[in-house]
Amino acid sequence: MANNENRGFTSNIGAILAAAGGAVGLGNIWRFPYMLGNNGGGAFLLVYVFFVLLIGIPLMMTEFIIGRRSQKNAIGAYRTLSPKHKGWMIIGIFNIIGATLIYAFYSVVAGWTLNYVVLACGNKLSGQSPEAVAQLFANFTQSSCWPLFFQLMFLIITAGVIALGVQKGIEKMSKILMPALFILLILMCVRSLTLGDGVREGMNFLFKPDFSKIDGSCLLSALGQSFFSLSIGMGAMVTYGSYIRKEDKLFNSSLWIAGCDSMVAILAGIVIFPAVFAFGMSPASGPELVYIVLPNVFNSMPGGAIFAIIFFLLLAIAALTSTISLLEILVATAVEELHWKRRTASIVGTVLVFTIGAFCTLSFGPLKDFHICGFTIFDLFDRLTASYLMPIGALAMTIFLGWFFPKAEVRDELSNGGSLKAKAFDIYYFILRYVAPIALIIILISGIIG
Ligand code: PFF
Repeated sequence: MANNENRGFTSNIGAILAAAGGAVGLGNIWRFPYMLGNNGGGAFLLVYVFFVLLIGIPLMMTEFIIGRRSQKNAIGAYRTLSPKHKGWMIIGIFNIIGATLIYAFYSVVAGWTLNYVVLACGNKLSGQSPEAVAQLFANFTQSSCWPLFFQLMFLIITAGVIALGVQKGIEKMSKILMPALFILLILMCVRSLTLGDGVREGMNFLFKPDFSKIDGSCLLSALGQSFFSLSIGMGAMVTYGSYIRKEDKLFNSSLWIAGCDSMVAILAGIVIFPAVFAFGMSPASGPELVYIVLPNVFNSMPGGAIFAIIFFLLLAIAALTSTISLLEILVATAVEELHWKRRTASIVGTVLVFTIGAFCTLSFGPLKDFHICGFTIFDLFDRLTASYLMPIGALAMTIFLGWFFPKAEVRDELSNGGSLKAKAFDIYYFILRYVAPIALIIILISGIIG
């Protein structure tokens, strides 16, 4: 039976924290800094914030509208809102495939965070030479056994939370983990900003845009990053939207969630770049930035051993609130569409994702030389989802809500049945119908040909 009794979140703050938890994740603290480092620093930040405001927030509202209006999961939402044209369900199916692929590669890096929490707690990262730290990361990721073990651990913890349900699992955990995450992040910022030497350079790198760095690849990466970070185009916010109470204000909630998400990304930049410059490391070190460069930074910093623990714990918490949202996309669909029990759905989803995710883990080791279209399996999943599946999913969603779904119903949902003024409705609707789809098409095409 579907989980219809006590189906949703119990409070507005619970909904905001849960959705912000889904949004804030490795994307903010691991992916954002290295994307920024590789794409020209401040210029990337500027383009990123622009996309969040112009497209990200309206699209998050769109997902919430679809979810709350239908009271259904990623697939069921389209079936319910478009009973005559069931073909729209394809968007939901697309979302489910995308969410599975994201969860598969995401859980690899989530597993690494767990390993690094253990290493940091055992003081195994301190006192090592930069070469030894790099070697440690290489040895760990290239081995098969331990990364798979930690990945599985992470998947099991996530499944445990999901099996507890929306209120006792997702909402409760988010109310504990999100404030903890903010506290840890602020502590890390204070440490980084008091390092002296590299602060100015790091802050300039982050906040001073060099406009010549803005090119097609910067735009595509920034758009992909904003989608990834806000969890847009994969049905996550449709699912969470279906749990938001009818009296909550979708516009305000979206602003809060996107604000929290961007704030965490920027704070992560403030933690990382001053420290990277203070200790003469390269900001453009790619995905290894937080696993190789930062442990070296911690090694050179007073109190570094403690800050290493705090940092990796922070990363693990951020990852967990996001893996929870990823698994919930799959579980909500299985529970409501296939009438599975929540526990069964959590277990089956976890087994499925581990089966696929194991290949992602192994693509750092035994499958390192196995390439598809020039990418390892891990890189392929990352690129495919952030640069293509998420924007395509979002495009299809905007066409559905902007062009096929009655405008009056969209307005009704956003204004809570007319009880709110919804002053910005016309702007939102214009972005939904024109700006977002056109921007998405341009960026997709330029990504494909460029
Ligand atoms: N937004 C998450 C992050 O920034 O880490 C990742 C994510 C979660 C993407 C859920 C997509 C999704 F459906």
